[in-house]
Amino acid sequence: MHDEDQSTEPVALEQRTHSPDQRIFSPSAARNSAPILEALKRYLPTHGVVLEIGCGTGEHAVCFAEAMPALTWLPSDPDPASRASTACWIMFKGLNNVLAPLDVDTRSAEWGVEGLAPFDAMVSINMIHIAPWAATIGLFSGAGRLLRSGGSLLLYGPFMHNGAHNAPSNAAFDESLKARNPSWGLRDVAEIEGVAEAAGLRLGETVDLPANNKLLVFRRGER
Ligand SMILES: C[S@@+](CC[C@H](N)C(=O)[O-])C[C@H]1O[C@@H](n2cnc3c(N)ncnc32)[C@H](O)[C@@H]1O
Repeated sequence: MHDEDQSTEPVALEQRTHSPDQRIFSPSAARNSAPILEALKRYLPTHGVVLEIGCGTGEHAVCFAEAMPALTWLPSDPDPASRASTACWIMFKGLNNVLAPLDVDTRSAEWGVEGLAPFDAMVSINMIHIAPWAATIGLFSGAGRLLRSGGSLLLYGPFMHNGAHNAPSNAAFDESLKARNPSWGLRDVAEIEGVAEAAGLRLGETVDLPANNKLLVFRRGER
């Protein structure tokens, strides 16, 4: 992942396939794009700019931007191969409401997107458990700085509640993440809320999604 001493870490644990152009295919994105899209439609504004953090292959970006054409989608990822895949997906789909992917690591003090802020929403899918806790702290700090008042940060993934897993499969996944990198692992919603509140965001809705995943909807308070 992106710890200084972990340059050989993979950015995802699944087996992905590659096309002759640089598009990458993620089996999990193929499974979860439709249910995530249905949930996002309920919480994203109809118009505006959405910053995606940790966009991975870019399949979510093009799927969501195609389905919500009045939004402008700004994908980002610190991983160059992910950005290359995302750029190819945008070209392949011929979409004009997806901007070129940017290099954003949430742990940086400056993200390089400040000139495009404030954003109407931010989305991050399956990122915070496959990154050090500092990535979560940075994510919320950035959301506090860069979201407009009332803007939302939508987080998708598996989460813990009050120190407990909500499914044996999530407990096993947590173990496997920590075995690979002790700084990774499923995050507890209460701990995330603490970081969110320090950055000026509050947890609103929690949506149950397939395979014991959730969408957490945080909102930026008034400045
Ligand atoms: C498991 S992949 C998920 C990718 C995509 N969102 C998906 O669901 O298919 C996690 C992604 O988060 C990115 N990532 C890891 N640490 C990050 C950080 N500190 N800031 C931003 N993105 C990060 C990785 O490069 C990787 O593309």
